[in-house]
Order: sequence, then C-alpha cells, then structure tokens
Amino acid sequence: MTDPYDLRLGVIGAGQRGILAAAAHRPGRGSRVTALCDTDPATLAHSARRFGVEDAALHADHRALLARGDVDAVLVATPDDTHAAIAVDALTAGKAVYLEKPLAITVDDCDEVLRVAARTGTRLYLGHNMRHMGVIRLMRDIIARGDIGAPKTVWVRHFVGRGGDYYFKDWHADRRRTTGLLIQKAAHDIDVIHWLAGGYTERVNALGDLMVYGGLPRRAEGTPPAEGWLTEWPWPPTASTGLHHHIDVEDVSVMNMRLDNGVIAAYQQCHFSPDYWRNYTVIGTHGRLENFGDEEGAVVKVWNRGPSSYREDCDAAYTVPPAEGGHGGADEAIVEEFLRFARHGGPTDTSPVSARMSVAAGYLATLSLREGGVPHTVPPLEPELLDYFARHQDPGPRVRGR
Ligand SMILES: NC(=O)c1ccc[n+]([C@@H]2O[C@H](COP(=O)([O-])OP(=O)(O)OC[C@H]3O[C@@H](n4cnc5c(N)ncnc54)[C@H](O)[C@@H]3O)[C@@H](O)[C@H]2O)c1
Repeated sequence: MTDPYDLRLGVIGAGQRGILAAAAHRPGRGSRVTALCDTDPATLAHSARRFGVEDAALHADHRALLARGDVDAVLVATPDDTHAAIAVDALTAGKAVYLEKPLAITVDDCDEVLRVAARTGTRLYLGHNMRHMGVIRLMRDIIARGDIGAPKTVWVRHFVGRGGDYYFKDWHADRRRTTGLLIQKAAHDIDVIHWLAGGYTERVNALGDLMVYGGLPRRAEGTPPAEGWLTEWPWPPTASTGLHHHIDVEDVSVMNMRLDNGVIAAYQQCHFSPDYWRNYTVIGTHGRLENFGDEEGAVVKVWNRGPSSYREDCDAAYTVPPAEGGHGGADEAIVEEFLRFARHGGPTDTSPVSARMSVAAGYLATLSLREGGVPHTVPPLEPELLDYFARHQDPGPRVRGR
C-alpha cells in the first residue's frame, strides 16, 4: 500500500551512502523511496530489492528520474565531481535536493549551484552530517555557553585509519573526481571549524604530499577492487595492494586558516595512521577544550584554571551520549532534518553557504599545497546569495509579489 502523504524520494547514487535512503525509507510514516538511479546496474538491482522499487522506476540517467511525476525530492550521493551538474538539474526540475558533501569540487561550481537554488526557489539541503554528531554538538554547546570564553584558535588532527582502503582504491584518489582530499575528506572538518569558531576562512595556505600510497601496487583500469575490500584491512599500510590505477591526491596535508572574525585555525590529515578519529582543541579567552575519542562514550575535557603544567585532570568533563545508527546517529538525524526542511522549510543546522565556504577553503588550500604553500584569499560570495540563504531560502516578498 502506498501512502498519499509520504514524501516521495528519488535516490541518485546508491553506493556506500545508500544508508541515507535506508534512513529515509519509511513507507506510511512520512517518506518512502519511489525511484532509483545509479549508473552501475548491479547497485541499481540490489537497491531495487532493498527498497521494493519496481523495474519501471529504475534509471541509469538522473534526468529520467527527475522527469518523473512521482518524485518530490531527491537524495544525491554520487561521486563528488558529479554533484554540481546533478544538483543544478534537480533544482531546475523543482525537486527538493539533499546533496551529499562536498557541495562541488570547485568554488565556481559551488556558486553556480547556489545561484540556481536562489533563482528557482527549490529547496537545497547539504549533507554535512558531522553537525549532527554527538561529539561536535557537545563541543559546540560548551563554546556557546561561554565555558571557554571567546574562541580564538581551533586545531584539528584528523587520523584517517584505513585511509588506503577508503580513499586510494577508487575514484577518491583521482583529483579530477575530487580536486583533493582537503575537499573530499576535510570539507566536514573545515565546516565544523567554521561552526565552532563562528566565522568563515578568508585566508589559507597548506603543505602536503603523497608519501605512502603513491608507490604501492595498483590494479588495472576497469577492474573492480578485490574481494574483501572494505571488510579486511591490510596492516601496515605499506602492505596494501590493488590500489586505484590513477592516484594523484595527497595522503598527508596540513592547512592553516585565518577566519573573517580573526580566529586562526589549523587542520591536519594523515591517511596511514593506525587509528581513525578526530581530535579537536579549541582555545578561548577563558579556557581550552579537547575531545578524547569521537564516538559514543568519548569525553570532552575543559580546563579553566591555570596556569599549570600538563594536567590530566580537568575542570569539567562531558561524555558523548549514546546514539544509534550511522556516524553515531548523525545519518538518521540529518535525514530527519532534511525531510522536515523539504516539506516545511525553515532554519536548519547545516547550510548551503557554510558548505560553499568549506569547499572554498579546501579548494584554495589544495591550490596552495600544490604550489608549495602560497597563501590564497577566499573569494566572497555574492551578497544576494548570502541574503537568500540567510532567510532560509524564503523567496521573500519581492518574489511572492510577482
Ligand atoms: N556525509 C558522509 O558522512 C559521507 C560519507 C561517505 C561519502 N559521502 C559522500 O557521498 C557521496 C557518495 O559516496 P559513496 O562513498 O557512497 O560513493 P560510492 O562510490 O560508494 O557510490 C557512488 C554511487 O554513485 C553511482 N554513480 C556514479 N556516477 C553516477 C551518476 N552520474 N548518476 C547516478 N549514479 C552515479 C555509482 O555507481 C555508485 O553506486 C560522495 O560525494 C561522498 O563525498 C559522505
């Protein structure tokens, strides 16, 4: 039985992020998947069985899905280089869009997507699910309460364990598909840095290199990754085999940012660390916070007294609460927010402008590191777009009166 009140969803790109569609498929309870698009026939067939979608609603071309009358909104989770064109087509077709991060792989493409969203008035939502992760929300609450005073500097160390498997065995390793991992991977953390610090990057530079995965055995173009990919993990990373045939992104990068509110931030990413987690430190005028672990049960410590030498004990400690689901419950929470926004609009915790600013910082940092560390200035976004998105995509009286 289909429910006439369900929001009808089209899924474009049903790979690893198929988890989003699973969270959104709630027949009879507000939303359901009615059509699927994927360029890979096996993925399409697998997803069709998973969501009970009939053959006539399966498409290899997203434009065919967008032409359907039984799709109100789309979840776009295709590789990064396809985001801008698919988002533009979906917005133009009048389908509310959930677009996976990153918004696009160049600043120009980001701005074009935002322009089309503003021109069409179709709702655009960006999948920056880290804003819904318990550890990030905990740190943001501590800062918002003023517990460390005014934040002045943010330092992030990103240990990407299993990086060789997740980022060097498929399209992620090809800069033509991503620009680089300071967008593909770091777009999340740059966005969080901006969120915690209350500003956007205006000046950036970076250093980076391909240190480990460039010299390991690759597989032939057109051949699939080996059986056990993403379930069995080689160690040490130098034992990895079957890497992508084309690798030209960096496996170590270090970037520095000055934000438009004076905050100075640093982000460091390494893809051959034994462990996978993110370590944030925020220092304000009245204290410092730091997270130890980033999943359920992890602790955020706050130090407010000083001066002292190293002190393992702290002045306050907060535990990341339990949550079920993907990325510590963030996937379910972000889908919930999107479904509400697609139906009713209003403010959201993620923002298309912030998504643009994280890509812009990552894009210019990537240019910088490939030029040996030359600093770059982030180009401003058009004031009309800032205004449109500050109104939560409400077209306002100017358009309503037309
Ligand atoms: N928010 C997060 O936590 C998170 C996590 C992982 C990935 N992502 C993002 O999600 C997106 C997808 O990543 P993934 O890991 O699922 O990748 P994936 O390679 O597993 O899946 C991508 C799917 O898109 C299909 N595809 C490729 N081009 C297409 C096109 N033009 N039209 C329709 N289908 C197409 C592929 O066949 C594949 O099934 C990426 O943009 C990535 O950055 C976000």
